Amino acid sequence: MPVVNSVYRHREAGSPLVTLAEYEAAGGYRALRKALLEMPADDVMYQFHRSGLRGRGGAGFPMGRKASFLPKDSPLPSYVVCNGDESEPGTFKDREILEFNPFQLLEGIVLAAYAVDCHQTYIYVRGEYEHQARVLDSALRQARAAGYVGDDIAGSGYACNVTVYRGAGAYICGEETALLESLEGKRGQPRLKPPFPAVAGLYGSPTLINNVETLAALPPIVDKGADWYLSMGTEKSPGTKAFSISGHVMRPGNYEIVLGDTTLRELVYDLAGGLREGREFKAVWIGGSSTPVMGADKLDTPLDYEAIAEAGSALGSGGCIVMDDSGCIVRASLRLAHFYRHESCGKCSPCREGTNWMEKILQRMVDGDARMEDLEMLESLFGRISGRTLCPLADGAIAPIKSAINLFRDDFVRVIENGSPRPEPMLEAVGV
Ligand SMILES: Cc1cc2nc3c(=O)[nH]c(=O)nc-3n(C[C@H](O)[C@H](O)[C@H](O)COP(=O)(O)O)c2cc1C
Ligand code: SF4
Repeated sequence: MPVVNSVYRHREAGSPLVTLAEYEAAGGYRALRKALLEMPADDVMYQFHRSGLRGRGGAGFPMGRKASFLPKDSPLPSYVVCNGDESEPGTFKDREILEFNPFQLLEGIVLAAYAVDCHQTYIYVRGEYEHQARVLDSALRQARAAGYVGDDIAGSGYACNVTVYRGAGAYICGEETALLESLEGKRGQPRLKPPFPAVAGLYGSPTLINNVETLAALPPIVDKGADWYLSMGTEKSPGTKAFSISGHVMRPGNYEIVLGDTTLRELVYDLAGGLREGREFKAVWIGGSSTPVMGADKLDTPLDYEAIAEAGSALGSGGCIVMDDSGCIVRASLRLAHFYRHESCGKCSPCREGTNWMEKILQRMVDGDARMEDLEMLESLFGRISGRTLCPLADGAIAPIKSAINLFRDDFVRVIENGSPRPEPMLEAVGV
């Protein structure tokens, strides 16, 4: 079960890397100097491609391929946008990079910008990450003063600016086109795709959007070479991935593992300290709250994109929420339905109305006011919402509930008959 701290370089260093001197002492900015002074932009792009790095924001699309979609002959300027909205419940891996390793993100952004011939980049930081945004601002000031951001970076003649932009706390602004709308100062609602941002993104210009963790993975890839990255993980899921683990585990937190080398069981029991004494594993939302829930029979699933998909869920953003047998799956489903109803931007009726109905029906179940027909009604909603909306939020709202009914139908029937008692407080549950 190898743990390789590649995006979490501060862990390797044993302390936060929040001053430039600390970051440079840990090997920081070696990759940027190497790229800008010794490598043509196409070679840098080739390294991204070859590494097989997949986007860590949720969809897992290969980063190098997406970067290659930006047209080279556009008369418009191109942009690189870093998605630091991180609002998926259960996911807090980007927060650690922003707070303890911000220079690696800045270095990665400038590397990506250099590869796609871009001179202006943005980091969209989740509204609630006030402290992290301050740390990032401080790192940016230091990087600019040292010539790692701005004109003539590291004496190479290449110029690139980075601007930090604060979100205002909307989950939907993590969706890339809603993020771009928000960045342009408009209401954060998704756009119709195509055109995709690579062709017409920010201000209608070619735009590369990547997650914080994706961009932070670039400096080691350029520094050590794509083959080093490829040597870790599986053929289709190379490299390392940070998992945030929370819920009923003794040591919740972030763990960066080599993809495919660690099983879910090892993540839960060895890294995260397992469950409380006497408790049984009940369920896990493995890739964030919008991914299908899985049961204890999937504990031996290796953590990589393909194995998790085969097990019936998705690696998503790596936000792994664990529930033991003290939890109520129907109450948990209600909590998620409430979140997605609240965060639906309201642009399409099936999502706006459907998430509202899902929450109402689940609330009736938990309150002991539901009838058996309510379960059928809830299930009938899924087909009327799925595939009929502008963005994937609605499907993400359905996935955990539909899978919960499939896996734990008896629990739903019991709750419909008897209601659901209030759960133990979470802190007590993990022994704090
Ligand atoms: C409803 C919704 C919310 C999303 N939230 C985030 C987010 O908070 N952070 C993120 O990086 N990607 C999020 N995404 C994915 C982005 O749309 C986009 O795919 C991602 O930023 C691309 O970066 P990557 O290729 O590096 O993963 C979200 C997608 C959807 C549909
Ligand atoms: S699916 Fe929901 S969140 Fe997405 S655009 Fe439609 S209403 Fe908005």
